[in-house]
Amino acid sequence: MTATYGLFGYPVHHSWSPFIHGMFARQTGQDMSYRLYESPPERFRSEVLEFFRSGGSGVNVTLPHKRIAADLVNELTPRAQLADAVNTVVRRDERLVGDNTDGAGLLTDLQKNLGLQWSSPRILLLGAGGAARGALGPLLGLRPRLLVVANRSAGRALELVRDFADQGPLSGCEFARLEHQHFDLIVNATSASLRGEVPLIPIDVVDSMTTCYDMAYGAGDTAFVAWAKRLGAGRAEQGWGMLVEQAAEAFHLWRGIRPDTAPVLRALRSRAAMAARSPS
Ligand code: ATR
Repeated sequence: MTATYGLFGYPVHHSWSPFIHGMFARQTGQDMSYRLYESPPERFRSEVLEFFRSGGSGVNVTLPHKRIAADLVNELTPRAQLADAVNTVVRRDERLVGDNTDGAGLLTDLQKNLGLQWSSPRILLLGAGGAARGALGPLLGLRPRLLVVANRSAGRALELVRDFADQGPLSGCEFARLEHQHFDLIVNATSASLRGEVPLIPIDVVDSMTTCYDMAYGAGDTAFVAWAKRLGAGRAEQGWGMLVEQAAEAFHLWRGIRPDTAPVLRALRSRAAMAARSPS
């Protein structure tokens, strides 16, 4: 019988996940379907539970439901617990297990796809919302010499840093306090790119040795990637690879098979380039 999977979000019609999981399934010969579920906040809980009651095998969860999904499952993996958010749910012996594959997707993209290797890097994480919280644990896994969380409002950055205080050399601040500091890696986990905006950080934090990574992605350069290129960043990348790698990690959890992500990432980039060229 065809195993059924889906993505719950609001809005979700723009998602590339059916394309990605469709390619994974064909590549690995899995008999499965993957559908989109446009689920408003007031119906999210009942619709996910109904999905599993009617035989569904697993779901992905995206904005704005990742936090609520952590309360809905019976069990959380340690990384979902740390992120306080769930993007993947799998059914195990009638129990729903919530995982978070976003951070693993980010690390795989940085290390495997982009080939970035540092010893004790200096890292700047921009933002202090759900996306930043999810990235913080995995970025600490890079054993940074220093990890600064900077946010528009310093209070949220300090709060986030407090929650992870015992896990690495962390500090939190507002954007203006970054002046004259240098970083090997800057990760944009703000939602600014979604509105074509750039976090207003001092421009002297970017130099030719800096890699700038936007967790957001778009048909052309995101505003943050374009900004980083203008400032002469050593590298400026957006989150297509993270998107594909978090999906591969979810697929592995569901099907026990690790798909080859390289052809999927290539196909996705060329689709996105086509979408950018065609008038909508
Ligand atoms: P998410 O779950 O996507 O992280 P969120 O919890 O609403 O969403 O957090 C959004 C993050 O992006 C916050 O860090 C927010 O900064 P504030 O805490 O100061 O609101 C940040 N953000 C959103 N738009 C921004 C902008 N134009 N410039 C800088 N930071 C922005």
